[in-house]
Amino acid sequence: MSTRPAVLVLANEKGGTGKSTVAVHLAVALAAEGKRVRLYDLDQRQRTSMRYLENRARHARTHGLDLPLPSADVLPEGHDPAGLVEAGGADVLILDTPGRDSDEGRRALSLADTIITPINDSFIDFDLIGRVNPETFRVERPSFYAETIWKARQARARRDGTTVDWVLLRNRLSALEARNRRRLGEALAELAPRVGFRVVPGLSERVIYRELFPSGLTLLDFAQLGEPSMSHVAARAELRELMAALFGGETRLSAC
Ligand SMILES: Nc1ncnc2c1ncn2[C@@H]1O[C@H](COP(=O)(O)OP(=O)(O)OP(=O)(O)O)[C@@H](O)[C@H]1O
Ligand SMILES: [Mg+2]
Repeated sequence: MSTRPAVLVLANEKGGTGKSTVAVHLAVALAAEGKRVRLYDLDQRQRTSMRYLENRARHARTHGLDLPLPSADVLPEGHDPAGLVEAGGADVLILDTPGRDSDEGRRALSLADTIITPINDSFIDFDLIGRVNPETFRVERPSFYAETIWKARQARARRDGTTVDWVLLRNRLSALEARNRRRLGEALAELAPRVGFRVVPGLSERVIYRELFPSGLTLLDFAQLGEPSMSHVAARAELRELMAALFGGETRLSAC
């Protein structure tokens, strides 16, 4: 009998917040720990995360590298992602959803054990989850996306009693924007207990996250990135922290 995989859903209807980048990094980190990971790209048009992992498999073949290779596929058009959960054969299922409202995205939310919402440090991104007062930056009320997630979690709790973990991941953090970063941090801290999410530090703004796609490498593939720079070392530490914040302290990132 196959056991149900842990279902991680990358979700934010705001486009370009880092869902696919984070999905691929998590898939590789978990595969490096020996977990059977399946990533499904639910964006049939862009297919970013599937293409990223295809590039990775090709790079490994071409250069004879033994890289951790999570399996990756696109959910066929019109298919219900519930079938992926029932199919079994994986320890972790990662569902990368489109940056817009979609049937697949909503179905994926209803299956999630953990919903990971990357958010850029911008009040434009924040506006999907909460409205702030323009003078004080205090949160006035949750907005539509917080309600969408709330409804999905309520439906899941009614169906099988599961409490879904909703994680807001602050992505593309920049050391240069201390004031904005602080204001966003305060607004998130104020909204978190009202809406029921937790906040984890995500990835800093680094050009390298934008450069690795063609080779399919990640910041975890230390040995392949050439001479390790300070920036690589810091990025690896930040990924380790992210994994620990998401899954608890026991998660390790092996050198790969
Ligand atoms: N920490 C980071 N530092 C620098 N660039 C980043 C970082 N995270 C993501 N990016 C870049 O931001 C852009 C959007 O990232 P990504 O495609 O992962 O977002 P997405 O949420 O999956 O987008 P969509 O909603 O279109 O699916 C890409 O160009 C990616 O390389
Ligand atoms: Mg994407």
